[in-house]
Amino acid sequence: MTTGRRAAVTLDGLPLCGLAPADGGTTALEWTPEALRTGEDAGANLVVRQAPAVAGVHRVGARRRFGLPGFLADSLPDAWGRLLVDRAARRAGLDPARLEGLDRLLIVGDGGPGALAFAPATVFSGEVGGFDAALDGGLDAIAAATRRVLEGHDADLLDALARHGGSAGGTRPKVWLAVGPDGSLRGGAGPLAADETGYLVKFRAPAFDPPDIAVIELAYARMAEAAGLVVAEPRLFTGRRGRYFGSRRFDRAGTRRIHVLSAAAVLDVEAEASHGFDAVDLLRLTRHATRDERAVTEAYRHVVFNVLSHNRDDHLRQFAFQRAAPLGASPAPGGGWQRTPAYDLTFSEGPGGEHTLLVAGEGRAPGRAALRRLAEAAGVPVENAMGIQAAVADAVSGWAGFARAAGVGAASRRRIEAAVTRCLRAP
Ligand SMILES: Nc1ncnc2c1ncn2[C@@H]1O[C@H](COP(=O)(O)OP(=O)(O)O)[C@@H](O)[C@H]1O
Ligand SMILES: [Mg+2]
Repeated sequence: MTTGRRAAVTLDGLPLCGLAPADGGTTALEWTPEALRTGEDAGANLVVRQAPAVAGVHRVGARRRFGLPGFLADSLPDAWGRLLVDRAARRAGLDPARLEGLDRLLIVGDGGPGALAFAPATVFSGEVGGFDAALDGGLDAIAAATRRVLEGHDADLLDALARHGGSAGGTRPKVWLAVGPDGSLRGGAGPLAADETGYLVKFRAPAFDPPDIAVIELAYARMAEAAGLVVAEPRLFTGRRGRYFGSRRFDRAGTRRIHVLSAAAVLDVEAEASHGFDAVDLLRLTRHATRDERAVTEAYRHVVFNVLSHNRDDHLRQFAFQRAAPLGASPAPGGGWQRTPAYDLTFSEGPGGEHTLLVAGEGRAPGRAALRRLAEAAGVPVENAMGIQAAVADAVSGWAGFARAAGVGAASRRRIEAAVTRCLRAP
């Protein structure tokens, strides 16, 4: 499929590397002179070297997802985006089973998360402009189209949804939006204008979400803020027929694109492999990536919040790092990486009812003792850890208030209250 194909990768406009398919389902990567000169090769690699930061052609991505190393595979979507891209590809006469990593990156083109863009972009032919027209009536038409896609129908907006949501990670349907200064909405996969703000907007997955999922996630975001976490700024989008949870993009600052890598990307593992990891690994990775003890403490607070608020879908793509240093500035010790704001904080059962990430060895019902062991193992001073546990428990005990303020229905409010009460009481 990819024979003869090449991709030029840029990092917020800086030429970063060239890619070509190589033997055995791997990828050939060559850094550009600009990347080598500015040190961005190392920045893109983060602190884990996934390709040697020297001139020449390197074979990378052996046995990895679609033959790509973690820092590139992180630009590919998860379940929802992959479904869209595969359907749109099939409609364009391509066999999705034969799309390799490079093909998939070229479909992402300049519409992906973070700072990486891939050229020449593959554009599906359909009526992409129809997306903005559908938005005229608010987000209801887009929400309805995502439902039709999930039911297996070929929605009119399929190509447009693939363009504006096909690169986003996660399981739930979602779209990138650009919101103008006058509140106008348009599809936001491509470059934003200086006066626009980017949002990621999520839609309900009927298979596992209650009808009021949007306001549940809003209540969780507010509760997390009260617990002292830095949270991706939430915003509720209200249509005539539904309410939709959005959060302000932390990978965009005006027209600038911020380099973001998930913990899975940095570790060069697939999110599906998260079961083999413990929160202690995440905290150590945070220390390694940021060289900043405040970030380690913040990551600990994030884990405590997930445990006490019953957010059990805590795989390695639910945590990420972003590049703080401006491009081309020679990377500070640690590469100038910091934690991103926390996102996807919501009530969730987790696979088999357990946490994906173990907490000091405990996945089923981690409580205060496991959180204390985690602090000890990860080098978070115990008095800090106890203070954090108390602050988070205090915020989570206020669930019913956050739920009422956000408009969560009584059924969801009670069900979640029962679950978080169990979490708060776990020894
Ligand atoms: N505010 C945001 N800015 C930029 N990227 C985001 C933001 N929120 C989420 N993401 C990215 O999008 C992915 C999917 O979002 P998430 O809320 O986890 O969706 P889902 O509920 O489907 O898992 C995340 O893994 C993260 O990489
Ligand atoms: Mg998620």
